Amino acid sequence: MNEIKIFSPATVANVACGFDVMGFCLDTVGDEMVIRKTDKKGIFITKIEGFDLPFEAELNVAGVSALAMYEAIDVDFGFEIEIYKNIKPGSGIGSSAASAVGSVFGMNEILGKPFNKTQLTQFAIKGEAIASKCEHADNLAPALFGGFTLVKSVSPLQILEIPTPDDLYATIIHPQIEIKTSEARSLLPKKIDLSDAIAQWANLGSLVHALHTSDYDLMKDSLHDVAIEPHRSKLIPLFADVKYAALSEGALGCGISGSGPSIFSICKGKDVALKVKEVIENVYSDLVIDFDMHVSKINTGGVKII
Ligand code: HSE
Repeated sequence: MNEIKIFSPATVANVACGFDVMGFCLDTVGDEMVIRKTDKKGIFITKIEGFDLPFEAELNVAGVSALAMYEAIDVDFGFEIEIYKNIKPGSGIGSSAASAVGSVFGMNEILGKPFNKTQLTQFAIKGEAIASKCEHADNLAPALFGGFTLVKSVSPLQILEIPTPDDLYATIIHPQIEIKTSEARSLLPKKIDLSDAIAQWANLGSLVHALHTSDYDLMKDSLHDVAIEPHRSKLIPLFADVKYAALSEGALGCGISGSGPSIFSICKGKDVALKVKEVIENVYSDLVIDFDMHVSKINTGGVKII
């Protein structure tokens, strides 16, 4: 195999109570990439469509993760990467993770799969780090593994796959403003109150239990964020109104997707997810800010060949 075309999905990180550790994978939005073997040694980004991103491999998220993997192999050829970007950088639905994952997944397929998904995440984390100025894998892991994932540890990297109940859908609103992950991180306090920490880890533990047991009521009771949302929600216009509308319409939970500005709602069934989309659209139609919306089943497969 000399060339491969892949779909690299968008993802939702944090999932309310799981800051920097939980994430899930979407299936209706993502980037496409072509990875090709070339005689010349090295990593070459030959095409970028959709957004204005650097072509120099060492400055490009997909290029940096590809270089991390390239350094770990000994081959007498190189790779060309074409990026067809649909996920806007700074959207909060894992734009950099999709790029970082796409290049290493494609290269691994061409090489005959010498690396497992955790090893691929380890390479991709180097690319993700240039976008968010820190090494976190809560978007990378669901993009590579699919479904819900929990990053138990970054060093050493340990990723747990959490079961995805059959009937779960996500509704995403992406207001067209940019929030840089590095800036959204700089807003956060270095310490939190013990009572908030207790609430947060109780919610995360019960969310994981709810996903294992398909307990939708417990999911609803767990999808709360007392640690991060209070600091970041002010960056997102009408966040409280969107959340109120989504929950009133039957969403199990609603929160900031990654570092924002996207907002996710998790719903039981597609009908609820579509109704939630409608009420959120109504909230945002009063603003002059443009927005996109996506309704997506949770994607249990992750990045794939197309
Ligand atoms: N966990 C990261 C954050 C995700 O919230 O900063 C960034 O997409």
